[in-house]
Amino acid sequence: MPGAFEGETVTRRNFMNLVAQGSGAVAAMAFTLPALGFALGPLFSREPFNWQPIGPPSDFTETTYVTKVITIVQGIGEAGNSIAYVRNRDPAIDTEPEDQYNHWVALSSRCMHLGCPVRFVAAAERFICPCHGGVYDFRGMVVGGPPVRPLDRFYTRYNQASGLVEIGPRYSVNFELQRFSPRDPGQPLNGIGQFLYPARFDTSILPKS
Ligand code: FES
Repeated sequence: MPGAFEGETVTRRNFMNLVAQGSGAVAAMAFTLPALGFALGPLFSREPFNWQPIGPPSDFTETTYVTKVITIVQGIGEAGNSIAYVRNRDPAIDTEPEDQYNHWVALSSRCMHLGCPVRFVAAAERFICPCHGGVYDFRGMVVGGPPVRPLDRFYTRYNQASGLVEIGPRYSVNFELQRFSPRDPGQPLNGIGQFLYPARFDTSILPKS
């Protein structure tokens, strides 16, 4: 090879070029990888979830919902608060399988069309969305308007030590009330919807039933 000693396959000039380029690449990665990790890390870190007390069991009945203010985003004051509508599970109408997390039915107030807050109208036993006329029945199932799935729900449980009902992470449901990791409003979960709108990487890992 021109410029190489007898038996050499790489010239000294090429060797020095390779060393210089390799060093440059290592130096560039030393700058860019930490920055990339800092930028993309939050996308993959799971949101923690908390169990919040919402009152003694005597606060709730099967026949109507009690409005409870809960914190859904920690550390940002009132902006992180939301409303949950809570009642006792009623086996006569709540036909989804019972487990330790649904002795109290807790519905999110966020409409599953575009996220406006819905209001429970006790006289009609309906949840009404003021934005585009979405209507949900007593169980939070869509009965009118554009919402694409039932109202989201929250895990609930009884804390023996405190004697209080606690509310946990939010989850989404399809029309059969099967549980899914929380999705955004407007994302259907029936049929191929659950595959078209997978859960975000940062959603909590939900408790197992
Ligand atoms: S946001 Fe509720 S119907 Fe549109």
